[in-house]
Amino acid sequence: MNTEIKKIGILTCGGDCPGLNAVIRAASRTALNLGIETIGYKFGYRGLYKNDFEPLTKQRVSGIQHLGGTILYSSNKDNLFEYEVIEDGVKVKRDVSEVAVENMKKEGVDALIIIGGDGSLTSARDFARKGVKVIGVPKTIDNDLAVTDVTFGFNSAIDVARDALDRLHTTAESHHRIMILEVMGRNAGWIALHSGIAGSADVILIPEIPFDIHKIVEKINERHERGKLFSIIAVAEGAIPIDGSVTISKIVEDSPDPIRLGGVANKLAYDLEKLIPEHEVRATILGHLQRGGSPSTFDRILGTRYGVKAVELLMDKRYGNMVTLKGDVMSYEHLENIIGRNKLVDPNGELVRTARSIGITFGD
Ligand code: F6P
Repeated sequence: MNTEIKKIGILTCGGDCPGLNAVIRAASRTALNLGIETIGYKFGYRGLYKNDFEPLTKQRVSGIQHLGGTILYSSNKDNLFEYEVIEDGVKVKRDVSEVAVENMKKEGVDALIIIGGDGSLTSARDFARKGVKVIGVPKTIDNDLAVTDVTFGFNSAIDVARDALDRLHTTAESHHRIMILEVMGRNAGWIALHSGIAGSADVILIPEIPFDIHKIVEKINERHERGKLFSIIAVAEGAIPIDGSVTISKIVEDSPDPIRLGGVANKLAYDLEKLIPEHEVRATILGHLQRGGSPSTFDRILGTRYGVKAVELLMDKRYGNMVTLKGDVMSYEHLENIIGRNKLVDPNGELVRTARSIGITFGD
C-alpha cells in the first residue's frame, strides 16, 4: 500500500464525451475501497484554481455510469499555465499553476487524476514537471491521442454517426439524393472512417487523404449507371480538397486551441450540385449530437478500466503517466511521450484498404 496517497482530486477537462462519469465512478470507488478520500474539482482546471470542489462519496458517484457529460462539469478554456486574468482593466495571460498547487496543499490533496484530451494532458504533464503527482486518462471522441489504441468516447460517437448514416439512407433512397453527413474529429478522420464503413457510405472523406471532387462525381455517376440512384458521403470536418484548405466554422478567441472546424459538407454540397445539376444534394452536420447521450457498453467498460487503472498507477507510485489500452491490455505511458503526437489515420493502413476493397471511394 502506498501511504503517500490519502486524498485524490479528480478533474474532467476539455470537450465532454460519453464515458466521463464511468471513469469518475470507477476511480472514486476504487480509491474509496482502499480507504482513500476522493474529491472532484468543478469545471476542470478552473476548479483547481478556484478551489471549487465537491467530495466524491460512494453516494455521489452512485447511479452515474449511464449518464452522458460529466457530473463535475468541464471547460476547454482554462490553461492554468497561460490563464487569462484582468490586471488594471486589461486582459493578460499569467501562469497561475502555483495557486493550484497551494490549493491542493491546503486541502491535503496528494495526487490528481486528470481526465482529458491533448490540451488538458499537456497541462497534466506540466503539473507533473512541477512535482505534482498526476495520472492522465485519455478522453476524446476524436480518438487522436497517441500511444493508446483507443480513447473512451470514440465508440459512443461512432455509434451516433453510424445511426445518422443509417437514417440518411432513408431519404437518400426515397428521393434519389446525394446525402452528405459531416462528422467531427478535428484533424483526424477516425470518426468518418469507422462510421462510414459501418454506415455503408459510398464515399468517405478524411483529412489524411485530400479529396478531388471530380473523383466523387465519378463515383456518383458510376453508381447511377448501375441503377444505384442515390449516394451517401461521410465527410470529416477536417477533410481537405486537393486544391484547398480546411473549412473553419469559427475562431474561439479565449480557447487555447481557437480554431473550430466545420462547414465542409455545405461547401461540398454546393460544389457538387454545380457539377451534377441533375442530382439533388443535401448536407447534414451532426455536430455535438455525437458527443452527447449515454455512453456505449464499450465506453462504460473502457472508462471503468481506465478509472481503476489510474488509481492502481497512483498506488504503484507511477506518477506522471497516462493510462493506455494496448490490444486488450491496460498499460501506461509517460505523459512526456504523448504530448504533441497526434494519432492520425494511416492512408495505407488496413482499415482504409479494407474500405477500398469493398468499393468505398476516398476521393483520391
Ligand atoms: O475534440 C472534440 C471535438 O468535439 C472535436 O471533434 C470538435 O472539432 C471540437 O471538439 C468542437 O469543439 P467545441 O465543443 O468547442 O465546439
